[in-house]
Amino acid sequence: MRDDEARWLRLEGREGETLRAAVERMLREAIVSGALRPGVRLPSSRGLAAHLGVSRGVATEAYGQLAAQGFLVGRTKSVPVVAHVASSAPPTIARRVEPPRPRFDLTPTTPDVALFPRRRWLSALSEVMRTAPSAAFDYGDPRGEPELREALADQLGRTRGVVAAPEQIVIVNGAAQGIDMLGRLLTRRGARRVAFEDPSLGTQPLRLEANGLKPIAYPVDREGLLVEGLEADAALVTPAHQFPTGSVLSGPRRRQLLKWARRRDALVIEDDYDAEFRYDRAPIRALQGLDRSRVAYLGTTSKTLAPALRLAWAVVPEHLADEAADIKHLLDVCSPPIEQRALAHLIRSGEYERHIRRARTTYRRRRDALMSALRRHLPDLPVEGIAAGLHLLVRLPQVDDDEAVAVRAEQRGVRVAPLSRYTHGTYSGSGLVIGYGRVHETAMPTAVRTLATALPA
Ligand SMILES: Cc1ncc(COP(=O)(O)O)c(C=O)c1O
Repeated sequence: MRDDEARWLRLEGREGETLRAAVERMLREAIVSGALRPGVRLPSSRGLAAHLGVSRGVATEAYGQLAAQGFLVGRTKSVPVVAHVASSAPPTIARRVEPPRPRFDLTPTTPDVALFPRRRWLSALSEVMRTAPSAAFDYGDPRGEPELREALADQLGRTRGVVAAPEQIVIVNGAAQGIDMLGRLLTRRGARRVAFEDPSLGTQPLRLEANGLKPIAYPVDREGLLVEGLEADAALVTPAHQFPTGSVLSGPRRRQLLKWARRRDALVIEDDYDAEFRYDRAPIRALQGLDRSRVAYLGTTSKTLAPALRLAWAVVPEHLADEAADIKHLLDVCSPPIEQRALAHLIRSGEYERHIRRARTTYRRRRDALMSALRRHLPDLPVEGIAAGLHLLVRLPQVDDDEAVAVRAEQRGVRVAPLSRYTHGTYSGSGLVIGYGRVHETAMPTAVRTLATALPA
């Protein structure tokens, strides 16, 4: 019997039971309990006999009985296979049924994953496999691989004006984990209340709460978060391209927010989730570059490469960096070192930037096609947040129920998100958040024409 076969099977005979009956019962119980699942190959009769210390004839007979009762089916490579029988195993957890993919997926949070640079990623991975020392396969540094942190420190300084020593960077599994890590850090340091933007991604306050904090929603206007009257120990913001309104935190508000943070000794968490995609305007420097002791910066590859990589980074104020690394270690020891090295390679070789440039051109074309289709089919509706990112906001000033519009659009094959889905009680406004990342420019006119039919006449 091979090592990977059911060597845990133990024969415990009962009084008056023949050996054959005991073997048969033992196997039947294992099948009915769900331990030996349908399709599993059992040991050969010779292997089973040797393992249980019975004669081969006993094993063969037991198998024969179980086959006759329908517990075993035909043999694959001369070993019996467990049949599909009702088992007493706990029912399998119902699979979540995803709604069918719509004809036009204008979901706002996702990039076009089909643009993932597979060939370049593969060659970066091969390079790592060829050159990495064996130590690279050990547990990694909780902060992340030094070569990635160094590459990022250069890259973030150059492209976003972030001021970071590699020691201040912690590689995390998505901005999502960055928020978890910083949330725990805040809780440990006695923080209680965290201000967050209304509207915003629904998971942001849930994450803060899950880490022991009290999230408090503050509304956003055309200049970003309203800083006036902010009562909190920290604030979570998306200054470069507010999600989902697309507004940019204005100069005066940026200054006001940093002043607030200094006065209250508060931490600002800057979620810079889509800053790489900027079309009509020079990029605005990251807030972190203006006050690196007050701002923790989060960046991610979820928009630039793919959400599936789960590779992101937190640039943490110097005095909090060690504690952040301790928490990352507690969370999951470290992010996968091999993939980190591959990303470092991609950045250092210039391929990451080249890929972003190519993707930016693609997304710009899609955005332009979306804009012209909106002008044509929905000319009266105000559109906001078009200068950056992968989504924009179409306001619906005459519509109370934007959810109903989104439902009708879905029925017609167009998936968009209603603005109200992202609100948290302090903001009112009706609109559609439209992502253009995934829909080809040639399909945009039909998508928008169809969407227009979902709006009240
Ligand atoms: C506001 C916001 N922050 C961050 C992210 C990225 O999160 P992650 O890096 O965990 O994939 C997204 C992705 O949609 C987002 O919409």
